[in-house]
Amino acid sequence: MTTTQLKARELIRNRRRLSFARKASLFGIVLRENGLAWTTLLAAYYATSAVAEWSFARLQRTKAERGLPGTSSLRLNERIWTDWDWSSGGDEWTLSPEWKSSLISCVLTRYVPEGVDTLEIGPGAGRWTAVLQPRARHLFGVDISETCIDICRRKFGGSSNTTFLKSSGADLNGVPDRSIDALWSFDVFVHINRRDVEAYVREFSRVMRHGAVGVIHHGSGAGTQGGWRSDLTTADFTRLLNESGFEIVDQFERWEDNGEVYSVGLYQDVVTVFRRAA
Ligand SMILES: C[S@@+](CC[C@H](N)C(=O)[O-])C[C@H]1O[C@@H](n2cnc3c(N)ncnc32)[C@H](O)[C@@H]1O
Repeated sequence: MTTTQLKARELIRNRRRLSFARKASLFGIVLRENGLAWTTLLAAYYATSAVAEWSFARLQRTKAERGLPGTSSLRLNERIWTDWDWSSGGDEWTLSPEWKSSLISCVLTRYVPEGVDTLEIGPGAGRWTAVLQPRARHLFGVDISETCIDICRRKFGGSSNTTFLKSSGADLNGVPDRSIDALWSFDVFVHINRRDVEAYVREFSRVMRHGAVGVIHHGSGAGTQGGWRSDLTTADFTRLLNESGFEIVDQFERWEDNGEVYSVGLYQDVVTVFRRAA
């Protein structure tokens, strides 16, 4: 959540600490000091934000109670990312150039070894593929969107060490059994619901070699912190990995680089690093 969003939420929460009579008297002062037009806008802001908060809580509760896919169904993901304007190459999600280069040096290159068979899930327009491909012995890229597969084939297909495959959104069809040493996925599992993540984890067991490492960015709180995250929690993901025999190597919301602290994402997202026992 951005600082502005946090401030707005704080304002809305604090409003509940005042009685109706107090609020009415405060509004009287605001009205006298700022005039009708400005005070009307303020009242509209408070009223609509209260409705927005109520709707958001209700959306989350109903989704959980009825097991609805919300905004993270495979069909919706396929449509969104097929129709997406990829002209910014995925850098619309880059928090700052420093954040990106630190993520590459402190996370990607720290955990994804050089010269090994690597799999990227959801490469999009290749924001991380550009770093992974030259380092990999062979790079598989699997994406639910045909558009992304086309872009990656155009950008990286000239190199003999790449294979890009369209996925149903919950399978790694075309990636051979026991063929992968390192797995990377960023800004993708935040959009995949628990049921489909479960199917992917079964696929990890099939394609990852013993000793292989996985680095996956995902949501932590089933969408309750905003950002249209899926229903996955950190606890769910950890349990799914453990049940499939993977050990957790590292799990973090932020990292430190030369005194600077960087967050994985804006919505308390997490990176989980896991390993298949050697
Ligand atoms: C927000 S974009 C991020 C793209 C890229 N990873 C990046 O960081 O720039 C989400 C990507 O995940 C892909 N995606 C979404 N759901 C997926 C799924 N279930 N399986 C594979 N790819 C998926 C989308 O097609 C898109 O390429």
